[in-house]
Amino acid sequence: MGAVKEIEKASSGIDELLHEVQRIGALPLQRAETLPPGAYTSQAFFDLEVKHVFKAGWTSVAHVSQLPGTGDYLSLNWLGEQMVVVNDGARIRVLSRVCLHRWAPICEGKGNTSTFVCPFHKWSYTLEGRLIGAPLMDQAESFDPASCTLPEFRSEVVDGFVFVNVDGTADPLGPAVADMSEALANYELDRLVAGSVLEYECKFNWKIMVETFMECYHHIGPHADTFEPDFPAKISYVEDSRLAWTRGFGVARPEVVPDVWDVGLPRFPKINAKECEAFGLYLIYPFHMLATFPDRVVWFQAQPVGPDVTLLRCQQMLYPDTKALPDFPKMMEIQDKTFDVINLEDISVNEKQQIGAKSGFVKPGRLSHLEKAIWQLNQYVAHKITGTSRTLLHR
Ligand SMILES: [Fe+2]
Repeated sequence: MGAVKEIEKASSGIDELLHEVQRIGALPLQRAETLPPGAYTSQAFFDLEVKHVFKAGWTSVAHVSQLPGTGDYLSLNWLGEQMVVVNDGARIRVLSRVCLHRWAPICEGKGNTSTFVCPFHKWSYTLEGRLIGAPLMDQAESFDPASCTLPEFRSEVVDGFVFVNVDGTADPLGPAVADMSEALANYELDRLVAGSVLEYECKFNWKIMVETFMECYHHIGPHADTFEPDFPAKISYVEDSRLAWTRGFGVARPEVVPDVWDVGLPRFPKINAKECEAFGLYLIYPFHMLATFPDRVVWFQAQPVGPDVTLLRCQQMLYPDTKALPDFPKMMEIQDKTFDVINLEDISVNEKQQIGAKSGFVKPGRLSHLEKAIWQLNQYVAHKITGTSRTLLHR
């Protein structure tokens, strides 16, 4: 009886939470609030996000420059799915890397191969996922290796990034972000190559990560000595959102342009003067994040693990010629140190936010006009989880 009551109580809690999310998702920008704290802490809400946001949406898992040749592969884990991104010579595929026999992974890490051979009982697969070898199985009645194929995840390559849609139901991504591809043309994203990587296990909800990435209001706090002097919060802005993506800009004070970028790395050859006056913050919902600078693009990959754990991978994406420079390793070392300092400025306050969200006293907080991207994300989440319409993309 007690257990039943507990379940009833828990489900009434989620109903209340969903109502609140729905209410907040319908507020105009001038009255915007954060989502309720439960949207950041509740396992039940996170489970809904797994189904309706993460698995139903598009996630970037690799860049073509990481798989240039036939047989190049990259393994990853994503929401319980073990995947391998592989260049089969004709195209890039994302396959399940769980062996069809007794579920051991057929590969781990990254490398180059002509076939995947499961280390457990040596079942082997082509780069397309077809089973071509299963030793000592001749006495298994009606077993037909030719009919066995590793499941393939739906994937799309957009601007050089390999995206996966786990449940196969999302609208095609390329057309939905065609205007974003156009806006980013000068960065030649599909030509960039992966540079160094910084990785963090963050003890906070994925939305906190996306929100902090997209707003420059907090420059006056944790980045008071790093971003704020050159990129003041006050002159940052976020554009009206499109259905699939949005963007904002950290604008440099006019007095510091153009020298603000002189950090040693050469600028992208096609970058224009306007693109040197601000850094861009691009978001393809739910969490493909790109920070664009005149000399590099930083790809932020968020991977939600639970309501209060999110993995963050910051991958520097560089122009091919940049990596060939003789003093490149030294320049990159300096860049990585600076970037790590800035990331940790965010992460330390974000971890405290997550603790704050668990207080019994917290309620949704009011948002500044500089946090427009949070208001936009609220609508996206409310739409995906509660089915509300997104009529307020534009003010
Ligand atoms: Fe920040």
